[in-house]
Amino acid sequence: MTFGGKTVLVTGAGGGIGAEYVSAFTAHGAAVVALDLPEFDVTSERDWQLAVTKAGSVDVLVNNAAVYGDIGRKRPLTELTVSDWDRVLTVNVRGTWQGIKAVVPALTEGGSIVNISSVAGRIGAPGFAHYVASKSAIEGLTRAAARELGPLGIRVNTVAPGLVSTDATRGLNTPDYIAAAARGRSLRREMTPHDLVGAVLWLASPASAFVTGQTLIVDGGQVFT
Ligand SMILES: NC(=O)c1ccc[n+]([C@@H]2O[C@H](COP(=O)([O-])OP(=O)(O)OC[C@H]3O[C@@H](n4cnc5c(N)ncnc54)[C@H](O)[C@@H]3O)[C@@H](O)[C@H]2O)c1
Repeated sequence: MTFGGKTVLVTGAGGGIGAEYVSAFTAHGAAVVALDLPEFDVTSERDWQLAVTKAGSVDVLVNNAAVYGDIGRKRPLTELTVSDWDRVLTVNVRGTWQGIKAVVPALTEGGSIVNISSVAGRIGAPGFAHYVASKSAIEGLTRAAARELGPLGIRVNTVAPGLVSTDATRGLNTPDYIAAAARGRSLRREMTPHDLVGAVLWLASPASAFVTGQTLIVDGGQVFT
């Protein structure tokens, strides 16, 4: 796969996984616009306008930003506050929709949007009700956007990662929890950010030109749907 001459926007680019996407697209020849706090906020329409204007035309958007590593400790849903809920849903879901909305006018024919959900949305990880809800919502948004944007030649898909061993994950989970996730997979090892690269690049590339509205689970064979 080559992305020579292509412009790729990646949000949450400074995170453990986002940085891997930036490196991979760059290594495959793309001009990457790496977006993250504090300069760029996915919930700001102005920030999106500036980013799209700076990029000019856009070939690929990877909507990777989320409240994840700084979500706070796991808590029963009865202890979450309205402000906890709104923060997570606003960044993870509204921010993903805002990204799609902002790039549509700049996307080239054959453009591809890759959203990022999580297998947490399928298995319902306890202590994370707001995060789980947000990641499920992204998959529904992906299907709606695929239907609306397909006639424009724009594809929209989602990658749903399993538990990835990033600093954020290690801050949120005990080593036993991470080890148990590895044991629960068909491929019994911890997952790294690099494990996601092939799926994201494939969905971003013309190799997947007739695939849209789909969620591709990349978790070493834990969740089958
Ligand atoms: N790490 C995992 O186990 C795992 C599993 C499944 C899905 N995911 C998803 O993968 C993505 C990356 O996860 P990660 O492990 O790198 O987490 P992370 O917390 O390290 O990275 C998230 C990034 O998003 C950025 N961000 C947060 N709010 C933002 C905003 N308003 N505007 C712009 N950027 C913002 C953060 O600054 C951070 O760089 C997230 O969507 C996460 O939900 C992660």
